[in-house]
Amino acid sequence: MSEPPNGTHEMISRQSRPLSTITTTKSLAMRHLPRLAGACALALSIVGPAAAATPQAPFKIGFILPMTGQSASTGKQISAAAKLWLAQNGDTVAGRKIELVIKDDGGVADQTRRIAQEMVVNDKIDVLAGFGLTPLALAAAPIATQSKTPMVVTAAATSIVTEQSPYIVRTSFTLPQVTVGIADWAARNKISKVMTLVADYAPGIDAEKFFKSQFTLDGGQILGDVRTPLRSPDFAPFLQKVADAKPDAMFVFLPSGQGAAFMKQFAERGLDKSGIKLLATGDVTDDDQLNDMGDVALGVINSHHYSAAHPSETNKKFVAAFEAANHFRPNFMAVAGYDGMHVITNALATTKGQGGGDALLAAMKGQLFESPRGQILIDAQTRDIVQDVYIRRVERKDGQLYNIEINVQKAVKDPGKLK
Ligand code: PHB
Repeated sequence: MSEPPNGTHEMISRQSRPLSTITTTKSLAMRHLPRLAGACALALSIVGPAAAATPQAPFKIGFILPMTGQSASTGKQISAAAKLWLAQNGDTVAGRKIELVIKDDGGVADQTRRIAQEMVVNDKIDVLAGFGLTPLALAAAPIATQSKTPMVVTAAATSIVTEQSPYIVRTSFTLPQVTVGIADWAARNKISKVMTLVADYAPGIDAEKFFKSQFTLDGGQILGDVRTPLRSPDFAPFLQKVADAKPDAMFVFLPSGQGAAFMKQFAERGLDKSGIKLLATGDVTDDDQLNDMGDVALGVINSHHYSAAHPSETNKKFVAAFEAANHFRPNFMAVAGYDGMHVITNALATTKGQGGGDALLAAMKGQLFESPRGQILIDAQTRDIVQDVYIRRVERKDGQLYNIEINVQKAVKDPGKLK
């Protein structure tokens, strides 16, 4: 399916698939069949057959995503995963037809706010979703609060995002969640002097802060920190500073979409041969770009919550179906979009198709299920995700580069909220 042009509105209305094409353990329809049957019988007895035959209004999920601009890969991944969820599970939940409304904000916060307003006021959407960058999520949060609309964040990863509205639920991750473990790993693996390099905005500041505090707590030394501009960064001068400081390792966070450009400049400046070890969050060794990075990425130690090479049956099925539908590999953005759809449609089923902002929100809190990344929980108190975090090494497998998991921290809560 072609992607919508900037600012356009895409309605996806699919035929329910036959059960034989459903690849998840049990379809939603199957899982909720007994409850559904009961609800239908009740409706018939109260209002009679004529009224019961009236179709209910569709349930609208409004995804606001960067489909164009610097973060377009995030929009591409999340929209593909949301469509895959519907293709696999059918587009009707508890009698409500699911309509996906996908709009492009181009990664510009003013656009995100305007689109969120339009979706709530004009389109009467039931749930807001997406938000490719932290500033975009922050721009929409007041609209979710004022309109009491659940807002499912499937990308933005600064710790404070979920605190901006009581209607926010997150299915992506937080930077502190994936950073503390790699700081620990570094200290336990003979790395004593580190320089940090992060994108100069909220998630980068989170990554820098949590790396420094954990690494120094473990006895390590931070030689310095550099922050690169979010928009069209030239990494060369920053890499030179790191090279001059001669640390044992550099720790890097850059948002999805910047990893390949960074690795190219890392190699061009000879840092791959300088003896300075590269440590990163998995945003840098992003599955969306990893194969294009080439040998320079081999051996890079990184930390994240999702790898396309995660060796579970659920993930193998997810990756196979995603690649068959899209002809590219899913990354961590895709899995958050897929799980976002899982959380939203589960909540709709719990409300027996009634929906309603507060009821949906209540039904999202505490959800626990097996995702392609491993088991995940929506913490009922914080509305943030609790998940396993892996240390991975980039390796070649079957001729392709992958993040291969080498150890796991189970059920990690956002350390940013453990004050
Ligand atoms: C963010 O802006 O919160 C963000 C975006 C992309 C990432 C991580 C964090 O890969």
